[in-house]
Amino acid sequence: MAKTGITLTRRGLGAMLAVGLLAGGLAGCGNSDTGGDDKSGGSGNGKLVMGFSQVGAESGWRTANTNSIKESATAAGIELKFDDAQGKQENQIKALRNFIQQKVDVIAFSPVVESGWDTVLKEAKDAKIPVILTDRAVDSADKSLYKTFIGSDFVKEGKLAGEWLVKEKASAAGPVNIVELQGTTGAAPANDRKKGFAEAIAANPNLKVVASQSGDFTRAGGKQVMEQFLKANPKIDVLFAHNDDMGLGALEAITAAGKTPGKDITIITVDAVKDGMQALADGKFNFIAECSPLLGPQLMDLAKKVKAGEEVPARVETEETTFTQEQAKAALPNRKY
Ligand code: AHR
Repeated sequence: MAKTGITLTRRGLGAMLAVGLLAGGLAGCGNSDTGGDDKSGGSGNGKLVMGFSQVGAESGWRTANTNSIKESATAAGIELKFDDAQGKQENQIKALRNFIQQKVDVIAFSPVVESGWDTVLKEAKDAKIPVILTDRAVDSADKSLYKTFIGSDFVKEGKLAGEWLVKEKASAAGPVNIVELQGTTGAAPANDRKKGFAEAIAANPNLKVVASQSGDFTRAGGKQVMEQFLKANPKIDVLFAHNDDMGLGALEAITAAGKTPGKDITIITVDAVKDGMQALADGKFNFIAECSPLLGPQLMDLAKKVKAGEEVPARVETEETTFTQEQAKAALPNRKY
Protein backbone atom coordinates (compact mmCIF):
# COMPACT_ATOMS: atom_id res chain seq x y z
CA MET A 1 0.00 0.00 0.00
CA ALA A 2 1.33 3.39 -0.94
CA LYS A 3 2.28 5.62 2.00
CA THR A 4 0.18 8.76 2.44
CA GLY A 5 1.55 11.80 4.24
CA ILE A 6 4.66 13.91 3.65
CA THR A 7 8.19 12.96 4.51
CA LEU A 8 10.39 16.01 5.17
CA THR A 9 14.11 16.01 4.76
CA ARG A 10 16.16 18.40 6.96
CA ARG A 11 16.84 20.52 3.89
CA GLY A 12 13.18 20.66 2.93
CA LEU A 13 12.23 21.71 6.45
CA GLY A 14 14.80 24.52 6.38
CA ALA A 15 13.45 25.82 3.07
CA MET A 16 9.88 25.83 4.36
CA LEU A 17 10.83 27.71 7.50
CA ALA A 18 12.61 30.34 5.40
CA VAL A 19 9.54 30.85 3.19
CA GLY A 20 7.32 31.08 6.27
CA LEU A 21 9.51 33.69 7.94
CA LEU A 22 9.63 35.75 4.75
CA ALA A 23 5.87 35.63 4.36
CA GLY A 24 5.40 36.69 7.99
CA GLY A 25 7.78 39.57 7.52
CA LEU A 26 5.95 40.80 4.44
CA ALA A 27 2.60 40.68 6.23
CA GLY A 28 4.08 42.84 8.98
CA CYS A 29 5.24 45.40 6.42
CA GLY A 30 1.82 45.42 4.83
CA ASN A 31 0.16 46.38 8.11
CA SER A 32 2.48 49.22 8.89
CA ASP A 33 2.19 50.45 5.28
CA THR A 34 -1.52 50.99 5.73
CA GLY A 35 -1.08 53.72 8.25
CA GLY A 36 2.05 53.66 10.43
CA ASP A 37 0.63 52.68 13.77
CA ASP A 38 -2.23 50.96 12.01
CA LYS A 39 -4.07 48.74 14.46
CA SER A 40 -6.76 47.78 12.04
CA GLY A 41 -8.28 44.44 12.94
CA GLY A 42 -8.97 45.24 9.36
CA SER A 43 -11.07 43.87 6.57
CA GLY A 44 -8.22 41.55 5.62
CA ASN A 45 -8.68 42.82 2.08
CA GLY A 46 -7.00 46.20 2.42
CA LYS A 47 -10.29 48.09 2.64
CA LEU A 48 -10.73 50.88 5.15
CA VAL A 49 -13.09 49.68 7.89
CA MET A 50 -15.61 52.14 9.33
CA GLY A 51 -17.74 51.48 12.39
CA PHE A 52 -20.91 53.56 12.17
CA SER A 53 -23.44 53.92 14.98
CA GLN A 54 -26.78 55.27 13.79
CA VAL A 55 -29.42 56.88 16.05
CA GLY A 56 -32.23 54.55 14.95
CA ALA A 57 -35.04 54.64 12.41
CA GLU A 58 -37.28 57.29 13.93
CA SER A 59 -38.06 59.31 10.80
CA GLY A 60 -38.05 59.47 7.02
CA TRP A 61 -34.97 61.64 7.33
CA ARG A 62 -33.14 58.93 9.27
CA THR A 63 -34.00 56.24 6.70
CA ALA A 64 -32.66 58.45 3.91
CA ASN A 65 -29.52 59.14 5.96
CA THR A 66 -28.91 55.42 6.59
CA ASN A 67 -29.35 54.66 2.89
CA SER A 68 -26.95 57.45 1.95
CA ILE A 69 -24.28 56.12 4.34
CA LYS A 70 -24.62 52.48 3.23
CA GLU A 71 -24.64 53.30 -0.49
CA SER A 72 -21.72 55.71 -0.23
CA ALA A 73 -19.61 53.21 1.72
CA THR A 74 -20.10 50.62 -1.02
CA ALA A 75 -19.32 53.18 -3.73
CA ALA A 76 -16.17 54.31 -1.90
CA GLY A 77 -14.92 50.75 -1.32
CA ILE A 78 -15.19 51.14 2.46
CA GLU A 79 -16.19 48.20 4.65
CA LEU A 80 -19.01 49.42 6.86
CA LYS A 81 -19.86 47.93 10.24
CA PHE A 82 -23.29 49.43 10.82
CA ASP A 83 -25.06 49.53 14.17
CA ASP A 84 -28.61 50.76 14.89
CA ALA A 85 -28.84 52.15 18.45
CA GLN A 86 -32.65 52.18 18.46
CA GLY A 87 -32.72 55.63 19.99
CA LYS A 88 -30.70 54.70 23.08
CA GLN A 89 -27.45 56.34 24.15
CA GLU A 90 -26.38 53.24 26.11
CA ASN A 91 -26.64 51.17 22.90
CA GLN A 92 -24.47 53.68 21.08
CA ILE A 93 -21.83 53.62 23.80
CA LYS A 94 -21.82 49.79 23.61
CA ALA A 95 -21.47 49.94 19.81
CA LEU A 96 -18.56 52.39 20.02
CA ARG A 97 -16.80 50.12 22.53
CA ASN A 98 -17.31 47.15 20.18
CA PHE A 99 -15.81 49.13 17.32
CA ILE A 100 -12.80 49.97 19.49
CA GLN A 101 -12.39 46.30 20.40
CA GLN A 102 -12.62 45.30 16.74
CA LYS A 103 -9.93 47.90 15.94
CA VAL A 104 -11.81 49.52 13.08
CA ASP A 105 -9.93 52.22 11.16
CA VAL A 106 -12.46 55.02 11.73
CA ILE A 107 -15.51 55.42 13.95
CA ALA A 108 -18.39 57.63 12.81
CA PHE A 109 -21.62 58.21 14.66
CA SER A 110 -24.68 60.39 14.94
CA PRO A 111 -25.13 60.96 18.68
CA VAL A 112 -28.66 60.43 20.01
CA VAL A 113 -28.13 63.20 22.58
CA GLU A 114 -25.51 65.92 23.00
CA SER A 115 -24.09 65.09 26.44
CA GLY A 116 -22.28 62.20 28.09
CA TRP A 117 -19.73 61.15 25.46
CA ASP A 118 -16.38 62.14 26.95
CA THR A 119 -15.45 58.78 28.51
CA VAL A 120 -16.05 56.62 25.44
CA LEU A 121 -14.54 59.22 23.09
CA LYS A 122 -11.45 59.24 25.29
CA GLU A 123 -11.29 55.43 24.98
CA ALA A 124 -11.33 55.75 21.17
CA LYS A 125 -8.64 58.42 21.30
CA ASP A 126 -6.44 56.26 23.55
CA ALA A 127 -6.87 53.39 21.07
CA LYS A 128 -5.81 55.82 18.33
CA ILE A 129 -9.05 55.39 16.41
CA PRO A 130 -10.22 58.67 14.85
CA VAL A 131 -13.86 59.66 15.37
CA ILE A 132 -16.07 61.63 12.99
CA LEU A 133 -19.34 63.12 14.22
CA THR A 134 -22.06 63.06 11.60
CA ASP A 135 -25.39 64.88 11.59
CA ARG A 136 -25.44 65.74 15.32
CA ALA A 137 -22.85 67.33 17.57
CA VAL A 138 -21.71 66.51 21.11
CA ASP A 139 -21.15 69.12 23.81
CA SER A 140 -17.68 67.86 24.86
CA ALA A 141 -15.38 70.73 25.81
CA ASP A 142 -12.37 68.73 24.58
CA LYS A 143 -12.51 69.13 20.79
CA SER A 144 -9.53 66.79 20.36
CA LEU A 145 -11.87 63.86 21.10
CA TYR A 146 -13.10 63.91 17.49
CA LYS A 147 -11.56 64.86 14.16
CA THR A 148 -14.45 66.68 12.52
CA PHE A 149 -18.19 67.22 12.58
CA ILE A 150 -20.21 67.04 9.37
CA GLY A 151 -23.85 68.12 9.43
CA SER A 152 -26.41 70.91 9.35
CA ASP A 153 -26.59 74.16 11.27
CA PHE A 154 -29.69 73.36 13.33
CA VAL A 155 -29.84 76.81 14.96
CA LYS A 156 -30.01 78.31 11.47
CA GLU A 157 -32.86 75.95 10.52
CA GLY A 158 -34.88 77.10 13.54
CA LYS A 159 -34.09 80.72 12.68
CA LEU A 160 -35.19 80.34 9.07
CA ALA A 161 -38.47 78.83 10.27
CA GLY A 162 -38.99 81.69 12.75
CA GLU A 163 -38.05 84.42 10.27
CA TRP A 164 -40.57 83.11 7.75
CA LEU A 165 -43.26 83.21 10.46
CA VAL A 166 -42.37 86.75 11.49
CA LYS A 167 -42.96 87.90 7.89
CA GLU A 168 -46.07 85.78 7.44
CA LYS A 169 -47.72 87.19 10.57
CA ALA A 170 -46.36 90.73 10.25
CA SER A 171 -49.86 92.21 10.01
CA ALA A 172 -51.40 90.14 12.85
CA ALA A 173 -53.38 92.50 15.07
CA GLY A 174 -53.43 90.35 18.23
CA PRO A 175 -51.54 87.46 19.80
CA VAL A 176 -50.49 84.56 17.58
CA ASN A 177 -50.46 81.33 19.60
CA ILE A 178 -47.74 78.88 18.64
CA VAL A 179 -47.33 75.26 19.73
CA GLU A 180 -43.98 73.58 19.31
CA LEU A 181 -43.27 69.88 18.79
CA GLN A 182 -39.69 69.39 19.91
CA GLY A 183 -37.40 66.61 18.75
CA THR A 184 -35.86 64.04 21.09
CA THR A 185 -35.10 65.56 24.48
CA GLY A 186 -31.40 66.41 24.77
CA ALA A 187 -30.70 65.93 21.04
CA ALA A 188 -28.73 68.67 19.30
CA PRO A 189 -31.40 69.34 16.63
CA ALA A 190 -34.09 69.70 19.32
CA ASN A 191 -31.99 72.08 21.44
CA ASP A 192 -30.76 74.12 18.51
CA ARG A 193 -33.97 74.42 16.48
CA LYS A 194 -35.83 75.54 19.59
CA LYS A 195 -33.16 78.17 20.26
CA GLY A 196 -33.02 79.47 16.66
CA PHE A 197 -36.80 79.69 16.38
CA ALA A 198 -37.18 81.51 19.74
CA GLU A 199 -34.50 84.04 18.75
CA ALA A 200 -36.18 84.77 15.42
CA ILE A 201 -39.76 85.16 16.67
CA ALA A 202 -38.60 87.54 19.42
CA ALA A 203 -38.73 90.18 16.65
CA ASN A 204 -42.54 90.22 16.94
CA PRO A 205 -43.97 90.30 20.49
CA ASN A 206 -47.34 89.07 19.14
CA LEU A 207 -45.78 85.68 18.48
CA LYS A 208 -46.02 83.50 21.59
CA VAL A 209 -45.09 79.85 22.17
CA VAL A 210 -47.98 78.68 24.38
CA ALA A 211 -46.93 75.02 24.59
CA SER A 212 -43.75 73.14 23.77
CA GLN A 213 -43.17 69.41 24.23
CA SER A 214 -41.14 66.56 22.77
CA GLY A 215 -42.70 64.28 20.17
CA ASP A 216 -39.40 62.37 19.88
CA PHE A 217 -39.05 63.06 16.13
CA THR A 218 -41.68 60.37 15.35
CA ARG A 219 -45.08 60.48 13.65
CA ALA A 220 -46.74 58.69 16.55
CA GLY A 221 -45.18 61.16 19.01
CA GLY A 222 -46.28 64.13 16.89
CA LYS A 223 -49.85 62.89 16.72
CA GLN A 224 -50.12 62.12 20.42
CA VAL A 225 -48.64 65.40 21.65
CA MET A 226 -50.66 67.44 19.14
CA GLU A 227 -53.84 65.81 20.46
CA GLN A 228 -52.89 67.02 23.95
CA PHE A 229 -52.07 70.50 22.65
CA LEU A 230 -55.46 70.73 20.92
CA LYS A 231 -57.30 69.64 24.07
CA ALA A 232 -55.46 72.09 26.32
CA ASN A 233 -55.37 75.13 24.02
CA PRO A 234 -58.62 76.42 22.52
CA LYS A 235 -56.80 78.79 20.13
CA ILE A 236 -53.78 77.42 18.24
CA ASP A 237 -52.67 79.52 15.27
CA VAL A 238 -49.30 77.97 14.42
CA LEU A 239 -47.50 74.64 14.81
CA PHE A 240 -43.71 74.55 14.62
CA ALA A 241 -42.61 70.89 14.40
CA HIS A 242 -38.89 70.14 14.62
CA ASN A 243 -39.24 67.60 11.78
CA ASP A 244 -41.60 66.54 9.00
CA ASP A 245 -42.58 63.28 10.64
CA MET A 246 -43.97 64.93 13.78
CA GLY A 247 -45.77 67.45 11.55
CA LEU A 248 -47.27 64.58 9.53
CA GLY A 249 -48.45 62.86 12.73
CA ALA A 250 -49.91 66.17 13.93
CA LEU A 251 -51.93 66.48 10.69
CA GLU A 252 -54.00 63.49 11.77
CA ALA A 253 -54.74 65.03 15.17
CA ILE A 254 -55.62 68.40 13.62
CA THR A 255 -57.98 66.86 11.05
CA ALA A 256 -59.59 64.67 13.73
CA ALA A 257 -60.23 67.84 15.76
CA GLY A 258 -62.20 69.25 12.81
CA LYS A 259 -59.59 71.81 11.79
CA THR A 260 -57.98 72.32 8.39
CA PRO A 261 -54.18 72.02 8.50
CA GLY A 262 -52.38 74.73 6.56
CA LYS A 263 -55.39 77.07 6.89
CA ASP A 264 -56.79 77.07 10.44
CA ILE A 265 -53.33 76.22 11.73
CA THR A 266 -50.17 77.38 9.94
CA ILE A 267 -47.65 74.53 9.94
CA ILE A 268 -43.88 74.91 9.73
CA THR A 269 -41.53 71.92 9.82
CA VAL A 270 -37.89 70.99 9.22
CA ASP A 271 -36.33 68.32 6.90
CA ALA A 272 -38.10 68.38 3.50
CA VAL A 273 -38.32 64.63 2.99
CA LYS A 274 -40.69 63.47 0.24
CA ASP A 275 -43.78 63.01 2.46
CA GLY A 276 -43.23 66.43 4.02
CA MET A 277 -42.79 68.04 0.61
CA GLN A 278 -45.99 66.34 -0.56
CA ALA A 279 -47.89 67.78 2.43
CA LEU A 280 -46.43 71.20 1.61
CA ALA A 281 -47.36 70.95 -2.07
CA ASP A 282 -50.88 69.84 -1.04
CA GLY A 283 -51.28 72.97 1.12
CA LYS A 284 -51.30 71.08 4.46
CA PHE A 285 -47.91 72.42 5.52
CA ASN A 286 -46.96 76.08 4.92
CA PHE A 287 -43.16 76.18 5.08
CA ILE A 288 -40.22 73.79 5.47
CA ALA A 289 -36.61 74.54 6.41
CA GLU A 290 -34.51 71.89 4.71
CA CYS A 291 -32.14 69.53 6.57
CA SER A 292 -30.26 67.30 4.16
CA PRO A 293 -29.73 63.62 5.12
CA LEU A 294 -27.39 62.95 2.19
CA LEU A 295 -24.21 63.01 4.25
CA GLY A 296 -22.74 59.72 3.00
CA PRO A 297 -20.45 60.82 0.15
CA GLN A 298 -18.76 63.58 2.19
CA LEU A 299 -18.44 61.30 5.21
CA MET A 300 -16.61 58.62 3.21
CA ASP A 301 -14.33 61.23 1.74
CA LEU A 302 -13.50 62.62 5.19
CA ALA A 303 -12.90 59.11 6.56
CA LYS A 304 -10.32 58.40 3.85
CA LYS A 305 -8.55 61.69 4.50
CA VAL A 306 -8.53 61.21 8.26
CA LYS A 307 -7.16 57.68 7.90
CA ALA A 308 -4.45 58.95 5.55
CA GLY A 309 -3.45 61.50 8.18
CA GLU A 310 -4.54 64.47 6.04
CA GLU A 311 -5.84 67.67 7.61
CA VAL A 312 -9.63 68.03 7.54
CA PRO A 313 -11.74 71.04 8.54
CA ALA A 314 -13.04 70.88 12.11
CA ARG A 315 -16.56 71.62 10.83
CA VAL A 316 -18.17 70.67 7.51
CA GLU A 317 -21.56 72.34 7.12
CA THR A 318 -24.28 70.91 4.88
CA GLU A 319 -25.78 73.18 2.20
CA GLU A 320 -29.51 73.68 2.62
CA THR A 321 -32.46 75.76 1.51
CA THR A 322 -36.12 76.45 2.43
CA PHE A 323 -39.39 75.62 0.65
CA THR A 324 -42.71 77.41 0.26
CA GLN A 325 -45.76 75.58 -1.11
CA GLU A 326 -45.02 76.71 -4.67
CA GLN A 327 -41.35 75.74 -4.42
CA ALA A 328 -42.33 72.30 -3.08
CA LYS A 329 -44.60 71.70 -6.08
CA ALA A 330 -41.70 72.49 -8.40
CA ALA A 331 -39.12 70.40 -6.48
CA LEU A 332 -41.24 67.31 -5.74
CA PRO A 333 -40.88 65.45 -9.05
CA ASN A 334 -37.09 65.31 -8.57
CA ARG A 335 -37.07 64.65 -4.83
CA LYS A 336 -35.10 61.42 -4.29
CA TYR A 337 -35.99 60.74 -0.65
O1 AHR B 1 -30.60 64.90 13.42
C1 AHR B 1 -31.44 65.14 12.34
C2 AHR B 1 -32.85 64.98 12.75
O2 AHR B 1 -33.07 63.68 13.24
C3 AHR B 1 -33.87 65.12 11.64
O3 AHR B 1 -34.29 66.42 11.43
C4 AHR B 1 -34.99 64.31 12.19
O4 AHR B 1 -35.99 64.01 11.26
C5 AHR B 1 -34.22 63.13 12.64
O5 AHR B 1 -34.89 62.23 13.37
